[in-house]
Amino acid sequence: MILEIAQYVLLSALIFFAVWYVSDWRKGEGRVHATWVAALKVGTVTHALRKAYRGFADKDRFMIFWLQVLRLKKEVPEGAFAELGVYRGDTAKILLAMDAERELFLFDTFEGFIKVDIEAEEGDAAHYSTASFADTSVSLLLERLGNSEKLKIYKGDFAEISASLPETKFALVSMDVDLAKPTLAGLEYFYPRMLPGGVLIIHDYNPKWPSLMKSVDGFLERIPESGIAMPDRECSMIIVKQKR
Ligand SMILES: C[S@@+](CC[C@H](N)C(=O)[O-])C[C@H]1O[C@@H](n2cnc3c(N)ncnc32)[C@H](O)[C@@H]1O
Repeated sequence: MILEIAQYVLLSALIFFAVWYVSDWRKGEGRVHATWVAALKVGTVTHALRKAYRGFADKDRFMIFWLQVLRLKKEVPEGAFAELGVYRGDTAKILLAMDAERELFLFDTFEGFIKVDIEAEEGDAAHYSTASFADTSVSLLLERLGNSEKLKIYKGDFAEISASLPETKFALVSMDVDLAKPTLAGLEYFYPRMLPGGVLIIHDYNPKWPSLMKSVDGFLERIPESGIAMPDRECSMIIVKQKR
């Protein structure tokens, strides 16, 4: 009797893992962008990048980054990458896997949101507290990304630390701070430092974050480029700096 139960449990576990494996494979690589499939076929996707893809929750967002990085390798070979709002480095990890040659500047408080930034919010963001996203640290980030001389990590309120950064030109900047104030501080800082053809990718441009949308819209009124809304899960907005 015990043997029969054990066999039954083992068989159920095997079926469960088989179903899980196939559905995970389908989610991961079974129905994806044709350019990605072609790159997999010709072997230009590294093992690290494939692994990063499998681990990244929003596949459409992954493709936005990857297609931009492919373009930048041809059109904007100079310039650093950056992320404002890093948390535990999920996005930083895919950026590293996509282009390990560029410097990658990473900015975060590594202590969660700043009280005055939250106080200015409406919508979902108004429910955040200073404890949100505080469960991270620079050492945890380094553990996850691996230490490399290409990484330049800055800890603190971006509005304050951006005043004393080394002058750098950027090819790609990911902005993912959720709140209007640091988003605007990021746009003001990075936009003039983007190389022609460089791209700003702003996460969460959707009506759940009305203050963030307002600050992006206000900024767009002052620049010649248009913002292009993307169809990833939380709606990213991309701005490609005009070529001269
Ligand atoms: C949604 S999380 C970022 C998620 C991250 N991009 C990822 O790939 O997992 C938002 C991050 O923005 C950071 N942040 C918010 N306000 C900031 C500010 N004023 N200065 C620097 N970082 C800030 C928070 O500490 C938090 O880690």
